[in-house]
Amino acid sequence: MNGGPEPDRRLLPVVRLAPAKVNLTLAVLGMRPDGFHDLHSVMVPVDLADRLSVSIAPPGAPDSLHVEGFDPGPVGDNLVLRAIAAARIAARPAWGRPDPPPSLAARLEKRIPIAAGLAGGSSDAAAAADAALEAWGVDLGPDARHALFAGIGSDVPFFLVGGPALVEGRGERLTPLAWLRDGDEHHDRPGLLLVTPALGISTPASFRAWDDGARSMGGAARLASAHLAEELRNGLRVADLLARASVLAAANDLAPAASVVEPSLVPFKRALLRVLGRPVGLSGSGPTYWALYPSHADASAAAERVREAVAGGGLSTPGGRDPFVVAVRILAAPRTTPTPRTLAPTPDPRRTS
Ligand code: C5P
Repeated sequence: MNGGPEPDRRLLPVVRLAPAKVNLTLAVLGMRPDGFHDLHSVMVPVDLADRLSVSIAPPGAPDSLHVEGFDPGPVGDNLVLRAIAAARIAARPAWGRPDPPPSLAARLEKRIPIAAGLAGGSSDAAAAADAALEAWGVDLGPDARHALFAGIGSDVPFFLVGGPALVEGRGERLTPLAWLRDGDEHHDRPGLLLVTPALGISTPASFRAWDDGARSMGGAARLASAHLAEELRNGLRVADLLARASVLAAANDLAPAASVVEPSLVPFKRALLRVLGRPVGLSGSGPTYWALYPSHADASAAAERVREAVAGGGLSTPGGRDPFVVAVRILAAPRTTPTPRTLAPTPDPRRTS
């Protein structure tokens, strides 16, 4: 203690890293009466992250958002502001004062490509809701917090887990998964190479293409997804995960839909397979492709090969610009108590009209 006055905690910005997610599997089980789709997906957070900070705004100012890095489009549409507004409503009972919790000034450094199948916007929203509650000093219970996150968007509750999870339902049913077997610490963690062509794919457009018949038959993704979840639950070795890479890379039911929405992905993936010489999977509704490596160093070397191929004309550039290429690590440690959570389907307010 230096004996000086304590800084007023409320004046300090609350900072959060908002990690991207990668779908190692993604099975679409069917359309639901509410228009969403039931999923079965093993999702992992990775150390490519946006950085969000929120501070209490001056009295009278509205909530605001300043964005640097990748351009997510109009600020007014940003999930960060929607998440802060939703968090303010959820915070009211615990807040207990006549005025609502004060406005917030948010700053977002976007390092995750937009509409890339990496859930960057959903992760920003999760970080914003969490940071807002902390800035206001409001502690929601786990159920209210889960309901808040699920009400913001399908991919948002996943970011409550803080580690790999089996994601089911519309995205609200979460089962935290152990990440690789204990006793494997002497092994390097596997690395992931991410390659994102410079075009955004709208998730609703991909699901619509799936509805219209752009889908794989046979339920192989569902089987691969259930198998991987089971194996991770029981502990899986790095080598065994790598041995399953080709099965996992094929286990994305939205891949045919993504190719219908963006046909240029087909030759791009073919060329990427040639450059990498190993299985390449699609994350979410794309267009980010992933490849698994025994270590982060191997994934970095592969990233260099992809950049060289792009520079040498050996890889097409959908979207007219170079793809975003990065080697990442999978985030393993749960930040919260790993309890499976289920929530009754949340009505989507945009679907009521
Ligand atoms: O929930 P969120 O707003 O992120 O979802 C975006 C869109 O993706 C939805 O409006 C819906 O078209 C589609 N979606 C779906 N089934 C899911 C998740 C998303 O159909 N499980």
